[in-house]
Amino acid sequence: MQTQLTQQQQLESFQRQLEEKRQYINQVLERSHQNLVQGDKNFEQFYFKEAHTIYISAIEGFIEIMKMTKDDANFQDYIKHRLNYTMDRTQMQNKHQAGYYSQNVNKDALNFIKSVLQERTEQPTNQEKKNEIIQKINDINKSEKKDINTGQADEKPPQIEEAQKKKSTVDPELLRQIEESILDSSPNIKWEDIQGLEDVKKVLKETIVLPTIRPDIFKGLLSPAKGILLYGPPGTGKTMLAKAIATECKCTFFSCSAVTLTSKWMGEGERLVRSLFTLAYEREPSVIFIDEIDSIMGARGGNEHEASRRLKTEFLVQFDGVNSNSDKKVLVLAATNRPQDLDEAALRRLTRRIYLPLPDGPARKSMIEKKFLALSQHSLSEEDIEKIVELSQGYSSADLVSVIKEVAMMPIREISTEKLMELKDLTEIRPVHLDDFTTALKIVSPSVSSHTIQEFDEWRREKGQI
Ligand SMILES: Nc1ncnc2c1ncn2[C@@H]1O[C@H](COP(=O)(O)OP(=O)(O)OP(=O)(O)O)[C@@H](O)[C@H]1O
Ligand SMILES: [Mg+2]
Repeated sequence: MQTQLTQQQQLESFQRQLEEKRQYINQVLERSHQNLVQGDKNFEQFYFKEAHTIYISAIEGFIEIMKMTKDDANFQDYIKHRLNYTMDRTQMQNKHQAGYYSQNVNKDALNFIKSVLQERTEQPTNQEKKNEIIQKINDINKSEKKDINTGQADEKPPQIEEAQKKKSTVDPELLRQIEESILDSSPNIKWEDIQGLEDVKKVLKETIVLPTIRPDIFKGLLSPAKGILLYGPPGTGKTMLAKAIATECKCTFFSCSAVTLTSKWMGEGERLVRSLFTLAYEREPSVIFIDEIDSIMGARGGNEHEASRRLKTEFLVQFDGVNSNSDKKVLVLAATNRPQDLDEAALRRLTRRIYLPLPDGPARKSMIEKKFLALSQHSLSEEDIEKIVELSQGYSSADLVSVIKEVAMMPIREISTEKLMELKDLTEIRPVHLDDFTTALKIVSPSVSSHTIQEFDEWRREKGQI
């Protein structure tokens, strides 16, 4: 009787667990689906950054479900399909965002209006007129894109084009995957889009750009580093710098992050990494950029997933290949905001370690000048600007972008939607005052704590370089 009851209890407990698991999967699935819908909505309304964050949540959800439903092939297929779709959208969003940040003054102004119009979409307004304006803006953007595409940034030196034409030994399916999701042809970010960080830019030019232009000089003792790590607090421009390198160094640029690789993690990761490096050799000079490297190459632990361990090992083996093949012009560039989490073995191979600090006074000033003063109406005196620079101590560059966006919205918020629709040009909007900045600096607080900076300083003393 006793055992029967226990068996009964066991059965019930098992059923309960199954039911809980089912409910949990349902919840995650529902949430991921909602995220996907929401991401698409943001994407279609040009809110690329927001779309990106939401897509990443969706991807994380789908990966979690994949892990929990390993035995159900049909379900796995379905989830893989959703995952691939989300990955594609993230990829598209990355491209759009890169384009968005590299826009010049005129385009920034247009996008500004566009974002304002989008912000008002929820309210009932003169829909037809709005559509007409959005259409016009899109048309202008399209024609300006053409200019960008024919501009200098896209021109590739003849040796790269030649290398691209050569037949690759990489498996055609993997080649297609790499070309679609990893090969970054033109992020369109230039050196001058990056404010401050003058020392860092100089070092990167010396290590990456000059050797590709004058390989005859940079050899022997002057041969450049093969592994570079960009590290520093979030929002200081690590990813942006890598994109500038892609635009300016005129080499084949492979950009991969944990997200690009995790979708292929289910067994394909190692092969993808191998092919990626093979292709990089075939298309030299090339740069393999691994963003957020800590999430791929975190310290190896005992309870780690087998697939992820194999992927890491493959990366290390390939890194070694790059270091020993001194005649091949392949460079591994990595970025992280958690260098202390990095695997020691990976760190050893990234011999040049470059710190990207929070922007100092002059960098913040130049950020405000280039990203705000040059684009908007304002009544700020030189003293006001100094005051803003002082008040924004401790803000990262990304924080400053948020502050600037907040400030720019302030005069707009005071205008009614109807009036906004009637607006003929931007001069009708009131200029921005110092008060707007002080209010915005209160709304947007710095995202990096002093404790985090201390951690960076310690790590830098121990393992960093500049
Ligand atoms: N030095 C800079 N000059 C101009 N804009 C910058 C700079 N640094 C950051 N930004 C702005 O902040 C945004 C985020 O920067 P980015 O993605 O490069 O940061 P990150 O250092 O890679 O951060 P994370 O560690 O979180 O990945 C950029 O899109 C850009 O608008
Ligand atoms: Mg980044």
